[in-house]
Amino acid sequence: MSQIHVISHPLVQHKLTQMRRVDTPSERFRQLLTETSLLLTYEVTSDLPLVSSKITTPLTDMDAPELVNHPVVISILRAGNGLLDGVLQVVPGARVGHVGLYRDHDTLEAVEYYCKFPPLENQTVIVVDPMLATGNSASAALDRIKEENPGEIRFLCLLAAPEGIESLQSAHPDVAIWTASIDERLNEVGYIVPGLGDAGDRIFGTT
Ligand code: URA
Repeated sequence: MSQIHVISHPLVQHKLTQMRRVDTPSERFRQLLTETSLLLTYEVTSDLPLVSSKITTPLTDMDAPELVNHPVVISILRAGNGLLDGVLQVVPGARVGHVGLYRDHDTLEAVEYYCKFPPLENQTVIVVDPMLATGNSASAALDRIKEENPGEIRFLCLLAAPEGIESLQSAHPDVAIWTASIDERLNEVGYIVPGLGDAGDRIFGTT
């Protein structure tokens, strides 16, 4: 069973509440999502390995720690893109991949319509999608990513439904999950309740 980390930091919880409000406009929603993803990234990267090397300050030489391998960030289209600005503000050296999937109405299989990754072999990968709802697209994206033989994979979302966590943990027990909240449930059409609505629509103003 993979680990689940709930990020209960007051700033994250405050911003999440603003995003949940039905009357928060897209412009403000995007800004809050960027700020929140920056804070979530701080948590999801908190144990990345550092390597020390000798540097020179204005006063002296010292051994100082640096990230040597920046993680690769993969956005699940389209809502995952709403998290990218914040992630890249704090990890500007990260390379970015995108994967787009839709669910075929007849077969219910996830069908890939777009995929572009930087080299993933042995790289730490952080997969971002604001909503872990049924877990179907997250699982399909992880299946696709694993074809590239990455190193450790971490899944970062804003909200998770218990159903999505269970499904992802059973399909990908090696992938730890970071989220700002585990909400109550999915409704009959797969939306997270209480949730925040359709994350893509709220980010891009497409309602
Ligand atoms: N995707 C969303 O954008 N919102 C949900 O509540 C579930 C899936």
